[in-house]
Amino acid sequence: MTTPVIIDTDPGIDDALAIMLAFASPELDVLGLTTVGGNTGLAHTTENALRLLHLIDRDDIPVAAGADVPLVRRDSRPDPGVHGEEGLGGIRLEPAPRSVDSRSAVELLVDLIEESADPVTLIALGPLTNVAVLVAAFPRTAAKLDRIVLMGGGARVLGNMTPTAEFNIWYDPDAASRVFAAGIPITMVGLDVTHQALTSPGDWEPLRGGGRIADVVLQTVDFYTDYHLQRYGTTSTAQHDSLAVAAVIDPRLVRTTPHFVDVECAGELTRGMTVVDLDSILGAEPNADVALEVDAAAFNRLLVDRLAALDDGRG
Ligand code: RIB
Ligand code: CA
Repeated sequence: MTTPVIIDTDPGIDDALAIMLAFASPELDVLGLTTVGGNTGLAHTTENALRLLHLIDRDDIPVAAGADVPLVRRDSRPDPGVHGEEGLGGIRLEPAPRSVDSRSAVELLVDLIEESADPVTLIALGPLTNVAVLVAAFPRTAAKLDRIVLMGGGARVLGNMTPTAEFNIWYDPDAASRVFAAGIPITMVGLDVTHQALTSPGDWEPLRGGGRIADVVLQTVDFYTDYHLQRYGTTSTAQHDSLAVAAVIDPRLVRTTPHFVDVECAGELTRGMTVVDLDSILGAEPNADVALEVDAAAFNRLLVDRLAALDDGRG
């Protein structure tokens, strides 16, 4: 039984590996990609999505462009040092032989969710602007989702963009707050687990000497490693988005507990903070399954082995 998924994404180096992981995994049936501004502008995230799918011979998968800017905030800017100006660490992939879908991201989301015979899992790897528009404008369609599995936020490990906020949530906190309040089952894969499951340089060994896809992976990882070395003093990298995808492939990889989560949208120091009520102090109904532990070794084995297999059978 495969799980139908749609990936909302802002590629983005870790998004790129997560997208490839999804297509390398028979457990998932990827129906489409929707793009959002975040790690870089929408034009680049959309072009990157098209070129990544061409790299893995999946030009058949629709890509629709969504929001370039947050719902409300006008001061959200990515740090180009993380993913590069164009989002893939300076790697230039071959252009795709087709264009972006004529539908907007939300139109594609609605069509795919309504057409799917089985409930779709929406995997959100970037700022939640497109997802917020979906739940606000098409609530009946959004309610047909099986679950939203989102990379974002943090319960105890709070921030990577600020001391209290993770980038995806920080970039569009109003959208995130709307999504957490939508009443749709959510799995929150945040910094608590992505920072536990770092991928070390040695983990990539099975990709060395591989084919063209392995080369692209290793080139993007090199850029991402330089960032981690400069920012955190380590050559291990946080493959945030791949962990969210992996949690759909094999939910046993993370341990989640249900908690009430909301997002600070107004605070000067705390804008974009996911307030996770770990001790149920507020007495509010839990609205998210929050990942707090991860089998890091199993995740990294899955990630690298699946990516290494992508070149099999390709020239
Ligand atoms: O904080 C990590 C998240 O922000 C990841 O999704 C990464 O791609 C960036 O978008
Ligand atoms: Ca991302």
